[in-house]
This record gives sequence, structure tokens and C-alpha cells, in this order.
Amino acid sequence: MRRKIFVVRRLLDEILDELRTLGDVEIYEKSEVIPKRELIERVKDVDAVVPLPGVGIDKEIIFSMRRCVIIANYAVGYNNIDIDAASEKGILVTNTPDVLTEATADLAWALMMAVARRVVEGDRFVREGRFKGMDPLLLLGEDVYGKTLGVVGAGRIGMAVMRRGVGFDMRLLYYSRRRHEEVERLGAEYVNLDTLFRDSDFISLNVPYTKETHHLVDEKALSLMKPSAIIVNTARGPVIDEVALVRALKNGKIRGAGLDVYEKEPYVSPELLSLQRVVLTPHIGSASYHARLKMGKLVAKNIRAAFEGEVPPNLLNGEQIRKSH
Ligand code: NAP
Ligand code: GLV
Repeated sequence: MRRKIFVVRRLLDEILDELRTLGDVEIYEKSEVIPKRELIERVKDVDAVVPLPGVGIDKEIIFSMRRCVIIANYAVGYNNIDIDAASEKGILVTNTPDVLTEATADLAWALMMAVARRVVEGDRFVREGRFKGMDPLLLLGEDVYGKTLGVVGAGRIGMAVMRRGVGFDMRLLYYSRRRHEEVERLGAEYVNLDTLFRDSDFISLNVPYTKETHHLVDEKALSLMKPSAIIVNTARGPVIDEVALVRALKNGKIRGAGLDVYEKEPYVSPELLSLQRVVLTPHIGSASYHARLKMGKLVAKNIRAAFEGEVPPNLLNGEQIRKSH
């Protein structure tokens, strides 16, 4: 019998063609997050599911799957998937690490630069026909070169963000659950979170979303930051307490924020939308053509391996499945 693969949103044609060599591909075609009830109906009788961040694959959904062998996330972060439930059911879970690291670090930097140098405000100013010649007082921003960059989460993307900081002659600070030799070879100093918040001009969040990182940036953290600090989040929305962030921005406790992810994604609060010193992007961290192509190729590779009874290259729950069976 032909295998069935369900994809929660349209992917690049090259990837869909590759998936079609593995089985029949069904796609949720609308440009929105698939409603949970529809998802349950559509995954009941498929052999593989390809979800995305923001499409929760919870226990109820997992237990409604009658023959699924693999959930192949089209993302490196997998907080949208209940791994324990999948493991209990013996379903493999995979992600797409490495291939999106540089693209996501580029976007973190794009947000940092855009907020610091008021690029989006400048663009609006010109389009509104308000440009009347160079003005020495117009849109004064912050320097980036030579400043202090603090990275929370010294993994693949955090490290890539710091590597870019070397070229900008920045003092590098980092916090992670443990020290990382490779990061320290770049000249980065390991500090506690409070010190990182207090001393950084730019803060980049690069942790996964877990119980421990929920609201890692809260009111207290924001109160420690410099009034000139700029925070950038390309990790997951709920790593920041968004209500506290809006308050801090409104009260001038910090200078600005660059956000690619939101606490209740895809909802973005009207208050955030109304703030000037905030640059907002629609979860496009990995959205370079080549990164997205490589992510799709990894998804296909993981599904192919699962269908052939082999261990997928990016398996996340091999150990858990072994333990629960
Ligand atoms: P990664 O290599 O696993 O790095 C994450 C790092 O965070 C780990 O090395 C870990 O280091 C650290 N960490 C984990 N829990 C922590 C905690 N409680 N406190 C402090 N540090 C902690 O993952 P990655 O590939 O860099 O991706 C990071 C995240 O970025 C993903 O999980 C995803 O949510 C997000 N992402 C977003 C986009 C986008 O489009 N916006 C694209 C790609 C990724 P230690 O073990 O040393 O703590
Ligand atoms: C995107 O958000 C990812 O985790 O890859």
C-alpha cells in the first residue's frame, strides 16, 4: 500500500516532489494554522506528519494517529510536539538542526541592526514623502560596533550570533546552563543571567522553549537592563513575558526590541504594533531559500529512513522510545 504523508502547510515544490517519491502527499492548503479538529481528522490514517512551529502536536492528536511512524518537524525547535506522548506510542520525532543556523543568526543580526539604526522608521519616513534632505538631528540611533553583545543559549544559533559579533569588535557575554569551550575561544565571557542583562547593550535570545525558559525575560530581567538596551528574540515567543516587555518599552526602561516570534503566535498584540522602536518579523528566522530547501531535504531524509526501518538522522526520541517499550 502507498504510504501517506500529511504536511500542515505548503512547502517548496522541490520538497513536495521529493516527498511524493516516498508516498502520497496531502497538504493543508490554507495560509493559516490548521484548526486542531481538522488536524485530528487528517492525521488519523497517515504514515508521516510534517508539522511546523505553531502547529501543536499534543497527546490527543498523537493518540488519534492510527498508523503514523514519524512526526518530522519542519523546524529545529520542537516545543510544539509532545515528545513523551509520541515516544509512548512508538512514533519517531525528528527536527532540522544545523541547516538553518546561519540564516537564523543573520536574521537576529538584521533585527539588531534595524532596531539600533532605526532602519524601518527611516524606510517609512522616506515612503511618506517626509525626506527633505540630510538632517543632523534625524533618526539618531545606537552604535553596534564595539558594544557589548549578550547571548542567552550558547547552542548552534547562539554561537553563530556571537561569531558575527567578533567582526563588529564587540565584547561578548553569554549565559547557558553550562560553559562552552568553543564559545570561549571566540573571547566570550561566561556570566550569570543577571550580569548579562545588566551589562549588555544587545541581548539575543537563542534558547529552546521549555518549562525552564518560560518567561526567562520577565519584569525583573527587564528592570536590570540598560535604558539603551536592545533585545532580540528569534527563539520562541514565550521566552519573553510580552506584557512586561511592552510595559518596559513604553516606560523607556529599555530602548527597543526586534521580534521574530510572539507569545501567542500568530497573534501580535496591538500594543506591540503601536510601538516605534520595535521591529517585527513574521517568524522568518530560517526563511532564506537555501535554508528552507535544506530543511525540507532533511525532513524527506528523516521520513525516508523511518519508512525503510532505519534510524532517521535527526531522531530526537530514540532513547525514550527504547525506554517506554
Ligand atoms: P541548540 O543548538 O540546541 O541551542 C540551544 C542552546 O540553549 C543549547 O545549546 C543549550 O545549551 C541552551 N539552553 C537550553 N536550555 C537552557 C536554559 N534553561 N537556560 C540557558 N540555556 C539553555 O538549538 P539551536 O539550533 O541553536 O536553536 C535554538 C532555538 O532557536 C530553537 O530551539 C528554536 O526554538 C529557535 N529557532 C527559531 C527560528 C526562527 O525561525 N525564529 C529558527 C531556528 C531556531 P546548554 O546545554 O549549555 O544550556
Ligand atoms: C523555527 O522556528 C525553528 O525552530 O526551526
